[in-house]
Amino acid sequence: MDMKIALVKGDGIGPDIIDEAVKVLDKVAAKFNHSVEYKEAIAGGAAIDECNNPLPQESIDICNSCDSVLLGAVGGPKWDNVASDLRPEKALLGLRSELNLFCNLRPAIMYPQLKEACPLKDEIIGDGLDIMVVRELTGGIYFGKRGRDENSAYDTLTYRKEEIERIVKKAFEIAQIRNKKLTSIDKANILNSSQLWRDVVNKMASDYPQVEVNHQYVDNAAMQLVRAPKQFDTIVTTNMFGDILSDEASQITGSIGMLPSASLGYSNLGMYEPIHGSAPDIAGMDIANPIATILSIAMMLRYSFSLEEEAKAIEDSVFEVLEKGYRTADIYSDDTYKVGTKEMGQLICDAI
Ligand code: IPM
Ligand code: MG
Repeated sequence: MDMKIALVKGDGIGPDIIDEAVKVLDKVAAKFNHSVEYKEAIAGGAAIDECNNPLPQESIDICNSCDSVLLGAVGGPKWDNVASDLRPEKALLGLRSELNLFCNLRPAIMYPQLKEACPLKDEIIGDGLDIMVVRELTGGIYFGKRGRDENSAYDTLTYRKEEIERIVKKAFEIAQIRNKKLTSIDKANILNSSQLWRDVVNKMASDYPQVEVNHQYVDNAAMQLVRAPKQFDTIVTTNMFGDILSDEASQITGSIGMLPSASLGYSNLGMYEPIHGSAPDIAGMDIANPIATILSIAMMLRYSFSLEEEAKAIEDSVFEVLEKGYRTADIYSDDTYKVGTKEMGQLICDAI
């Protein structure tokens, strides 16, 4: 297969981690006889510095002309004081909506080798955690009408039925190939948009009789995630609730530097990125953990190119390297070997 990948390295540790992911993709491609071509696009703070625009049209065009997009991270304190419509984060929102990536998958998996980093008690985590958060990504309050004057400000939360249906459909499909359990999270006791959300989920449930569906209010769900996380398999929720709950879900796994994400739309073009941020304080120091970005490549191979065996090869290599005791600084503990960003990337390449 010929793959054309847009690379958006972004800011902070973005370039460090993308370089390692590229090394791994090249290795997998060589092993399984695929060819990969890369095109770089600028976005975030790097693009603000270069052309005073966090997401130049040229970058959108490059991404659209490729089969898939790999993104490092955007943002940093350097751009904290720029105008709100020029913030680096606008690049992320812009890419999501321009590329029509309405479905965000955020797996929260606990690696058994990193069990000690999990902040929950042993009896709560049992044999581990494996939750898939399916977050709506191009609607809701993030994209609603907003305004501000000196003394007041507002944001609006609107969902159209079609927007809910398309994300809920993806969530049911994912639940079906996982453990057939879907929890829809809303605030239907207060919000009209959540009542519509819940009605749509209930209506669509009859198309997926094998999937067991339940609903939770978001405040309760936030509590249940730390009280009894094993009740969750696949979660589907709105843009803002998904933003908040996916951070919580990732943190309880103790593996925050390890978790990838995928943003998908109707076509095979997806955007893949680690869930962690740009960590500007350690940029360029060869200490960042590249594993979340490397695992994002695995998600890309699986969801954009349907290359399951190749995806699995990466995931298995990461597992093997962890099993051998290699750790970057963020996941290091006594009795393990500390390695830098580049060495971690190389070890994973060598294991493929
Ligand atoms: C995320 C981030 C973004 C979001 C920010 C950086 C705009 O928190 O991807 O979860 O809120 O979606
Ligand atoms: Mg977030």
